[in-house]
Amino acid sequence: MELRALTPFMGMEVRGIDLRQPVGDADFALIRHALNTHSVLLFRDQALAEADHVSFSRRFGPLLTHVLTQFLKEAHPEIYVLSNVVDAGKAIGNHKEGWNWHSDLSYKAEPCLGSLLYAIETPPEGADTLFASMHAAWDALDEDAQQRIRHMKAVHSYAAYYGKAFADRNPLSDEQKAKTPDVAHPLVRTHPETGRLSLYVGEDVVKEIEGLSAGESETLLAELNGHAIDPAFTHRHVWQPGDLIIWDNRSTMHRATPYDDVKYRRVMHRTTVAGDRPF
Ligand code: SIN
Repeated sequence: MELRALTPFMGMEVRGIDLRQPVGDADFALIRHALNTHSVLLFRDQALAEADHVSFSRRFGPLLTHVLTQFLKEAHPEIYVLSNVVDAGKAIGNHKEGWNWHSDLSYKAEPCLGSLLYAIETPPEGADTLFASMHAAWDALDEDAQQRIRHMKAVHSYAAYYGKAFADRNPLSDEQKAKTPDVAHPLVRTHPETGRLSLYVGEDVVKEIEGLSAGESETLLAELNGHAIDPAFTHRHVWQPGDLIIWDNRSTMHRATPYDDVKYRRVMHRTTVAGDRPF
């Protein structure tokens, strides 16, 4: 196994490993360490069955299932499908999921540690995923800005995100709403395994900053979200079928980008690993 940096500030490509085979403890320790320190890991040319994807994901911890159960694989409900494909009149996956900057499941009291996204079908153009290092974003704030926000909390809301991202769809059911109450998280979070700080923001999912007026909250959030996605901290991944990427949701944000969804098919499988309460 060989690891190669993707950018100076984030990301590594892991080569020479077939994830259909059990990963030995020593190699897994290197992978886990690389995830904690480099936040995004790319494995190319994989040929994973659903069960392989799930079993490699489980090495990182217990897996979560998404609240939009209509997009889960029947045999492996840990897999959430992102796709524009409609089969026999039924969408096989959630289309336009994550087309804004966010960290997965940040609306949960215990958001996920990481996500493993596996590319099955990818358009020849568009549909890239952008990643931003929230460690780099925090480090680049000046000391006054750091002091100002250091102990602030922001409200993350799945209902707010869903209402904006999927305004043309049926609203969330009462059961789905009950499973996703709003939650307040620190604006600055500590990586539980390395101790490094990162900015913890997000576009549509972060509704407001506690203790500020609506206007102040909106201004500060726009400022922080704008800072967080400075090109100096972001990396664009151009997908090929067979790519698997795992990202650390405790130190990154990401967003999917549009593509010609009439002309092309995109099928991606995502698992998410349980995490801790941000502090
Ligand atoms: C996601 O937010 O997990 C989706 C990213 C993508 O589809 O590129």
